[in-house]
Amino acid sequence: MTAAELFGGGIAVITGAGAGIGAGLARQASRLGMTVVLVDIDAGAVAALRDELRAAGGTAIDKVCDVRDAEAVQALAAAVHDDLGPVRLLVNNAGVEQFGYLWDTPVDNWRRVVDVNINGVYHGIRAFLPHMLASDTPAWVWNLSSIGGVAVVPLQAPYIMSKHAVLALTECLHLEVQAAGHADHVHVQAVLPGAVVSNIFESAGGVDGGDTDAAESQRAAMLDIKAAAMDPLAAAKVVFDQAAEGRFYLLTQPDYVSSAMIERARVLTSQEAPRLRTERRFDPSRS
Ligand SMILES: NC(=O)c1ccc[n+]([C@@H]2O[C@H](COP(=O)([O-])OP(=O)(O)OC[C@H]3O[C@@H](n4cnc5c(N)ncnc54)[C@H](O)[C@@H]3O)[C@@H](O)[C@H]2O)c1
Repeated sequence: MTAAELFGGGIAVITGAGAGIGAGLARQASRLGMTVVLVDIDAGAVAALRDELRAAGGTAIDKVCDVRDAEAVQALAAAVHDDLGPVRLLVNNAGVEQFGYLWDTPVDNWRRVVDVNINGVYHGIRAFLPHMLASDTPAWVWNLSSIGGVAVVPLQAPYIMSKHAVLALTECLHLEVQAAGHADHVHVQAVLPGAVVSNIFESAGGVDGGDTDAAESQRAAMLDIKAAAMDPLAAAKVVFDQAAEGRFYLLTQPDYVSSAMIERARVLTSQEAPRLRTERRFDPSRS
């Protein structure tokens, strides 16, 4: 089946929909004929996107919700379920970056990454999955990991750790849905973007003391990668199409992301210690 056949007419809830990948997924969901619930802490961003999607003939609702707040996400799920009906697609997308040596990282910045990137995904699952499992209508859950979920990168340890965590959590969830006997209608998939144009590096945390230059050089290096990054709407189309094919790992740039998967598998099977490299290991301009 095509993405339009599978998803068209359903309800999509997308966290972090105010910018970047989330906004791209929301635009594509709307083009496929989904009712889109745009969730973000940035009220202005989701209101503007709601107006844009409605002006294009879509059905969109904006909700301000902080994914760090378990009860707020629970209330969101109940409201969507009661007011709109069963959710066909939940995208746990909201995420934040962090640059700097781990030992320089302020406690609040560490907690921000864990709270948004890991706890936020868990809150989404805890709030929405029970409704999906209880219904016999088809439903999809996408969690945003990253190429960073299969790579190790110095000066981004909290972020990289969080994306490994989301990937493992998603793989476990996929098995749990099977073990509990719901795999006939609930589909869990992991999204691993490569490099997609967004605000994530600008809004990333840094360090207040210690080696601030090292933290900011890492931010600058990542901003350089943006020059070769993919358009979020194009990335969203790829993700929807791969999801419709029934793939588990949804890769915005299959060659680029799978080169990191292959390297990770090679390091683990050879049991080598991670090696510091100065050259860029993966080329984001590869599709
Ligand atoms: N852009 C990339 O190249 C890339 C690569 C790999 C993975 N990812 C992942 O994709 C996801 C989206 O990232 P992006 O690059 O589009 O970032 P972005 O910064 O452009 O957008 C993130 C959105 O999340 C929102 N947000 C932040 N904290 C929130 C919270 N507590 N509650 C609700 N919303 C919140 C922000 O307001 C923003 O609108 C992240 O999980 C990120 O790790 C991105």
